[in-house]
Amino acid sequence: MEYGSGKNILITGCSTGIGHCVAQGLKARGWRVFATARKMADVDKLKKEGFESCQIDLDNSYSIHSGVQWVLEQSDGRLDALFNNGAYGQPGAMEDITRQAIREQFETNVFGTHELTSLILPVMRAQGYGRIIQNSSILGFVAMPFRGAYVASKFAINGLTEAMRVEMQGSGIDFILIEPGPIRTEFRKNAREAFLKFIKIDKSPYQEKYQGWIKIATQEEAKKMPFSLPPEAVLEKVIKALESKTPKTRYGVTTPTHVFWILRCILPRRWLDKILLKAS
Ligand SMILES: NC(=O)c1ccc[n+]([C@@H]2O[C@H](COP(=O)([O-])OP(=O)(O)OC[C@H]3O[C@@H](n4cnc5c(N)ncnc54)[C@H](OP(=O)(O)O)[C@@H]3O)[C@@H](O)[C@H]2O)c1
Repeated sequence: MEYGSGKNILITGCSTGIGHCVAQGLKARGWRVFATARKMADVDKLKKEGFESCQIDLDNSYSIHSGVQWVLEQSDGRLDALFNNGAYGQPGAMEDITRQAIREQFETNVFGTHELTSLILPVMRAQGYGRIIQNSSILGFVAMPFRGAYVASKFAINGLTEAMRVEMQGSGIDFILIEPGPIRTEFRKNAREAFLKFIKIDKSPYQEKYQGWIKIATQEEAKKMPFSLPPEAVLEKVIKALESKTPKTRYGVTTPTHVFWILRCILPRRWLDKILLKAS
């Protein structure tokens, strides 16, 4: 019998990257995977790949509610795990980030994710067990420049997760952070689109830096990023978070995550700032 047999999980953002890879990997291990996506075209694609799938757009409360309702109808009201994965990065110096840009960043990465989690918690509470796995980031505990909106959203996810883990002690529901460093996915391509949507390059004091960044913000270039890993590296940690009897509270992925976790604890803040600026 495969490990995950009989267990089920809802995953957000399965169109590409980590979500798609984790959905495939868990399905192969015997998990019943509800692989959701923001766009209907991706839901159709996932169904063709053999997944049970529905639309969940984290920016839309109605979509979150109807997606959860559909999943619970399929699963007889039971859900063993939720992988909060869907998110995007809004690059740009904070000086150039408008209220609308940061609002949209939080709508997806924080508010939508929290709304979905809140709908699942009563189900898990009634069962007396459940695991919520949060796909955070190295940028959930160190702040790299020119990614402030995204950094703030991932710090927020880390804060919510830590608080909920303490609140839910004794409920049987566990909260686990996954903190990847650079992973080779569509993330940079999508971030580039968010950047071009909101940042007025010509008006920015950072225009020279931006021109350089735009050139490397493609998946091909991301492959050359030092220390980057394929999404399977995240899958490995998600499996540990889901299947270990006593999972850790956080799993780092990639060398930069492990290194910066230690540097953040031991270095004076201004030294760390210098390293982060160089690393970015
Ligand atoms: N790649 C990295 O280096 C890296 C590092 C640390 C953490 N992460 C985290 O890993 C997670 C997955 O990212 P990825 O690297 O796999 O990038 P990706 O290939 O761009 O995948 C992101 C997924 O999130 C979905 N998404 C975006 N907005 C959404 C919304 N409003 N509602 C529902 N889903 C939405 C995307 O859907 P569409 O295709 O429809 O846009 C896509 O399926 C994210 O939480 C990201 O912050 C990534």
